[in-house]
Amino acid sequence: MDQIKVKVERRNVGYSVFIGGSILSGLSDYLRKNHANKKIVVITDETVSKLYKENFFNKLDAFNPYVIILPFGEKIKTRETKNKIEDTLMEKKYGRDSLIIAIGGGVIGDLAGFVAATFNRGIPIMHIPTTLLAMIDSSIGGKTGVNTRYGKNLIGSVLQPSAVFADLNFLRTLPDEEFLSGLAEVIKIAITSDKELFSIIENDYEKILAKDEGVLLKIIKRSIELKKEVVEKDETESGLRQTLNFGHTIGHALEAHFNYKIKHGFCVSIGIAAELKISALCGILQADEQRIVSLLDKLKLPTKINKDINADKLIGYMVSDKKTLNEKPHFVLIKDIGTIKSEGKNYSFEVDGGIINKAIEMCKND
Ligand code: NAD
Ligand code: GLY
Repeated sequence: MDQIKVKVERRNVGYSVFIGGSILSGLSDYLRKNHANKKIVVITDETVSKLYKENFFNKLDAFNPYVIILPFGEKIKTRETKNKIEDTLMEKKYGRDSLIIAIGGGVIGDLAGFVAATFNRGIPIMHIPTTLLAMIDSSIGGKTGVNTRYGKNLIGSVLQPSAVFADLNFLRTLPDEEFLSGLAEVIKIAITSDKELFSIIENDYEKILAKDEGVLLKIIKRSIELKKEVVEKDETESGLRQTLNFGHTIGHALEAHFNYKIKHGFCVSIGIAAELKISALCGILQADEQRIVSLLDKLKLPTKINKDINADKLIGYMVSDKKTLNEKPHFVLIKDIGTIKSEGKNYSFEVDGGIINKAIEMCKND
């Protein structure tokens, strides 16, 4: 089992991310050692609960958890679901001595994390990510939140978890499209921070698609290390953490446009292609655009915007995005793989509306 320690000094907190296959055998010991007197609340979704009832959830019975099983999917990541969970916990007399364990993908992690961040003014959370995306991205770094009809993750908070158990065995049951959706975030962090990781994915893409466990462990571990480095330097997204939003300004607009029916990673993949085009049109990106788009294509990730989508409507969604300043969408701009434009502590830049519009038009399918 590998272990990566994340330290967020401004909060004086640190936690371990345990990574490997079959690592959940260590969970009971971990809970007894670190959370002996806690009342445990498990939050999961119906798919994960059904798949892992026998082989995993029953191992938690010894801790007498209160288990909340939610429907699956982005649609439940709302203030309404959060209210319902909180009301249930209060009705069942759960208080400050509770520990939430989120078992699922990014939807469950973000929602359960937001409940933990505000319940009784804050209780601890542990993440057991069960999707690739949640293992390498959403379970690390503390961002929590819910969507509103105005856009993605507009209400939320930051709460660093007390531990993360990323057990690769969960990936065995993950549908291919969910796996690919997670790969989009691996590619994003490779583009923004690590040329070498990008080359590994390029060279081993067939093994990755075949879910070769050795290669998967390597790219998952490296992605977590890269995210840790960013979060440790800038938990609050006042600088370097902005880079993690690459592909997300357009990605989030597409998600809102499709009413959250298209997977996050697929929208991010299209967002990566379109934001590379913006970087090129701004004269920042010289080469590498085709190399990146070609890797996304090889991995069967989408890179084209549907021709029927109105560019101005999409820009309208971007204006409601959290990253917007003075009602102007901001973008992370790529110089080449592993290098991003920065000015002092700033990594996110206003781009002329005409360029955004042109990039969207150029990325449309025929
Ligand atoms: P998800 O949580 O909806 O999970 C995808 C689907 O896979 C669900 O239907 C789920 O039931 C199913 N599933 C989960 N684990 C499974 C398994 N092991 N086997 C079979 N099926 C399984 O989606 P996601 O892609 O994990 O997360 C997307 C969310 O993460 C978005 O809401 C996004 O905004 C958020 N996100 C948050 C951060 C952050 O820093 N907090 C970062 C990136 C993304
Ligand atoms: N996934 C974006 C972030 O954690 O900042």
